This record gives sequence, structure tokens and C-alpha cells, in this order.
Amino acid sequence: MISIPTIKRFPSYLRLLRQYKEEGEQWVSATRLAEELGLTPIQVRKDMAGTGVEGKPKVGFEIESLISAIICNLGWDTPTDAILIGAGHLGGALARYEGFATYGLHIVAVFDADPAKVAKTIGNKVIKPMEAIEAFIKKNAISIAVVAVPADVAQEVADLLVEAGIKAIWNFAPKDLRLPPDVVVERTDLATSFAVLSANTGEFLAVEKSVLSHEEILEQLDSLIASHKVPLRRLYCDLANTSALLAANLNDLNWLGFYLVENSNSLILGPFQGRVACTSIPFGKGVCGRAWQEKRTIVVPNVNAFKGHIVCDSASLSEVVVPIIVNAEVVALLDVDSPLEARFTAKEVKLLEEVASRLGAIFA
Ligand code: SME
Repeated sequence: MISIPTIKRFPSYLRLLRQYKEEGEQWVSATRLAEELGLTPIQVRKDMAGTGVEGKPKVGFEIESLISAIICNLGWDTPTDAILIGAGHLGGALARYEGFATYGLHIVAVFDADPAKVAKTIGNKVIKPMEAIEAFIKKNAISIAVVAVPADVAQEVADLLVEAGIKAIWNFAPKDLRLPPDVVVERTDLATSFAVLSANTGEFLAVEKSVLSHEEILEQLDSLIASHKVPLRRLYCDLANTSALLAANLNDLNWLGFYLVENSNSLILGPFQGRVACTSIPFGKGVCGRAWQEKRTIVVPNVNAFKGHIVCDSASLSEVVVPIIVNAEVVALLDVDSPLEARFTAKEVKLLEEVASRLGAIFA
């Protein structure tokens, strides 16, 4: 029986061993592994004994054999199906994280309690309602659950999972769970894991969310853009603040910002929140160019189905583009992207249109 602390060190050994292998090395000594990982050589030898691979005097351990043995001991060579509960920011990143396959972990379904999220797609999976969870676990004999729900509901969710037959929980919720002794729980420090995941997945806008109502958003917008007489600098200042205001109050977005009409042929990137984006978009091209050409809002439930969509952030799955029109001419476009399919409700589109209409004043 390999001890838990040894198992916990295995992934670090694995990373290092794979690196050595890539560098063309064949053998590694316990002393070298110990030095790299800040362990004692005795500790490393003990851990290696757990893998069943024996070292040879002078040369140490064969890297290839150690890699296979560790993967086998971790059970990463046989795929394990797991479910994910919580399709919020972290859950979304987890759902889209392809690196789990390296660990033989396959997220086969995603569940969320929010009816607004149910039936939307995340990481190629359709979000299912919580009511369907018990039947799913039983039917598919799932034993592992990844929990990424808010702390205040984590215990409740965990109880439900255990009741339905889950044997192991990977808990990403910032809460210690009380569970029967035969259920294995591994809690992952959210901040570090999330940092790694977001680096790997192109996470949603990492903006601390406020909870303003649509009316309050518009009120704030009015005070932000109160001084309507604007030179160009002031215009950029107001658009920058507007993108920050919206990004902080709308959920599940990965990009939000402005494209400004530069000349009769093209748009130029303006202030935004999100990943580095395309700097110019030709008239009529992409969702933005089309909304400009047609002088109307375009809502795209799934960008893959929009012919000519310009990919700036591969995380985007749905998009809405609202033109800002002054004297019957488009002067700029407000572009909002979400990693969720069909993310934008009519109510939200209305809000964005209202924002665009009020912003017309600063261009006038
Ligand atoms: N997808 C847009 C391009 C801009 S990015 O979404 C930021 C389009 O097709 O026009």
C-alpha cells in the first residue's frame, strides 16, 4: 500500500521525469530527484520503492520505467469518468480544461442548479439540471465528482452526491466537507488551481463582480459619461470605464469592448476588457463588420454557426454586437463575447442597446 504523502508527490516526480525524458535522458539518481524537488534522498528512495521500480548502482533509476510505473500507480492509465457540479466561473474553466485527460480523468457531464445555465453548452457539454444528477450517477456508475459550487451550498451538494453513490469528491469549493469515512475527499486550493486553469483555458473575465441591477448600471453609466463635450481622449476614457462597468456587472463573459469606425472601410479596436483582440475589422466582415454594415444589433447564439465570424478569443461561443449610431451613421460597436452558448437574453440585449444609445451622446 503506497502512502498518501507518496501519492501526492508522484505528480511532481512525473513532471520532472517527463522533462528529463524530453531532454533525451535515460537514467536519473535519487539524489538528483531529491535536489530538484527539495526532498531528502532517503525520502525519494522510499517513494521509488513504492513504484516497484528498482534502481541500479551508479546509474540510478530508468526514467522510462519510472514514468510508466508512476502513471500506473496513480491509475492515470485507465480512464475514469467523473461529473462536474457547478458551471460558474471555476466550473466553466474546469469543464473546458483539456489537461484532465493527462490524468485519465474525463468529465462526462456538467450539472448546475441555475435554470438559466441549464441546456447551455460548456466545454462541449450540455449543462444538466441538478434534478437529473442522481439518475445519471446510478445509470453510468460514476464514482468521482468534481465540485465547483459556492461554499454555502457545497455541503448540501456533497451530501446529495454521496447519497447517490459517489465515492470520491474533488472539492474546489472553499469549504471543508463533512462526509462518511469511506468517501475520499480531496480539497484543492482554489486560488492556485484557478490560476493554472485560467492560464490554460482562456478564462472568463477575471473581474470581481458587483451586483448592480440593469437600472443601476445605466445610472452609473450616466454619471460616468456626464460631461458630454468630448475631445478624443475623453471619449476613450468614457469607453474604457464603460467596458469596466459592464464587465464587472455581467456574468460569464470573456470579452467586452468597443470597435470604433476608423474610416469608411474599417473598424479599429477601442477600449475593452479581456484578451488581446484583432486590431482592425473590415466593413461587412465578422459579426462586428456585419452589424456596422446592417446598422443593427446582431446576436449570435453560437459563433461556429456564423459564417465569417472572426475569432479573437477562442473561448468565445456566443456574441452580441450593438452598433452606436449617431445621425443615422454607425460610429462604433459594442462587442460582447461569452464562453457559454446562447448566453444573451433579450433583457440583456436591451440593456446593451440602451448603453449604446446613451453612448451616442459622447460621440456627437
Ligand atoms: N468576433 C468578432 C471579432 C471581435 S472579437 O470578438 C473581440 C467578429 O466576428 O466581428
